[in-house]
Amino acid sequence: MTVPFLDLKAHHEPIREQLDAAIAQVIDSGAFAGGPFVASFERDFAAYCGTSFAVGVGNGTDALWLTLLALGVGPGDEVITVPSTFMATAEAISFCGARPVFVDIEEQTYTLDTALLEKAITPLTKAIIPVHLFGQTTDMDPILDIGRKHNIPVIEDACQAHGALYKGTKAGGMGVAGCFSFYPGKNLGAFGEAGAIVTHDPDLAARIKVLRDHGQARKYFHSHIGWNARMDGIQAAVLSVKLKHLDKANSCRRAHAWFYDELLVNMDEIVIPFVPHRNHHVYHIYAVRIKDRDRVLGALADMGISCAIHYPIPVHLQEAYRSLGYSEGSFPVAEKCAAEFLSLPMYPELSNEQIHFVIQKLKSSVSEAKTHECVA
Ligand SMILES: Cc1ncc(COP(=O)(O)O)c(C=O)c1O
Repeated sequence: MTVPFLDLKAHHEPIREQLDAAIAQVIDSGAFAGGPFVASFERDFAAYCGTSFAVGVGNGTDALWLTLLALGVGPGDEVITVPSTFMATAEAISFCGARPVFVDIEEQTYTLDTALLEKAITPLTKAIIPVHLFGQTTDMDPILDIGRKHNIPVIEDACQAHGALYKGTKAGGMGVAGCFSFYPGKNLGAFGEAGAIVTHDPDLAARIKVLRDHGQARKYFHSHIGWNARMDGIQAAVLSVKLKHLDKANSCRRAHAWFYDELLVNMDEIVIPFVPHRNHHVYHIYAVRIKDRDRVLGALADMGISCAIHYPIPVHLQEAYRSLGYSEGSFPVAEKCAAEFLSLPMYPELSNEQIHFVIQKLKSSVSEAKTHECVA
């Protein structure tokens, strides 16, 4: 048996006819860039997230960057985020000319440690970006309270959290804006690159719409210097079809995660995901923590099981951010987790047999790793 990390073909197979029909409609209409398919998806996605507006853009990085720009973040400003995220969160800050300021994560949920947040705020702080890592929301209430107290907007990086809930509220609907990626492997994935911003604020939505379309609200009347960050019609049409199936797909992911949990619960060498009662986790990634991670990853690959690491180097230690002056030890929890994270195969169509196989092989490679340790 082999187990891929992700199986998009299996995911699309049952809805293939609906997807083909949606793409054909776009081809027939010629509405390829922006247009009615994008507007329709924006309405559906805003409704799904419980927000008043959604603005479709080219990808999740655009979503974060344009939101920061629309909030007036620029050179000399600081934006707080976490080092345990995909590089794009920090890149979006840097592309505004601002400086990313990191706050460590908490060891249980791998999201921003709210106890450390206030100390990181300075007069230059212009936004806070908590990241809902792996499909579970950050503890938002303390962050929103601190944001209100200091008059600093909170932008949710919900790129991994489509459909996740915090105390019953959807990811993306709590801060001034929520940013999503629809990269193909996400819980809601396009057939290429796409992203969106959701918000309750009509002015913010309008400003982002202008920025995503060369700074024009009216064709060829450019009130701002913007960019081309529009969503494609084909991506929007595909996403509208797939959005209808998102909750079911998330339920399957949750069931697989619980099965993984059940099979791993008594293994001292493996830390399984922790989910506080307040959270509805949607398991974009099912990450465990193992001390001898690299050896285990290699052993599983040899046995036909594809795993991944999200992410091997925390952002503050990336070469690109050397100039920020962080070093090893700056964020001990993020660094420890990065050395131990192992993402197991996770997608809705995973079978119980495959999960059994993964866990059986994981257990045998962990005990093998332990034997090596004793001998060494
Ligand atoms: C947490 C996080 N933020 C931002 C992004 C950027 O999204 P995109 O790849 O669509 O630009 C991603 C995508 O992987 C992500 O996981």
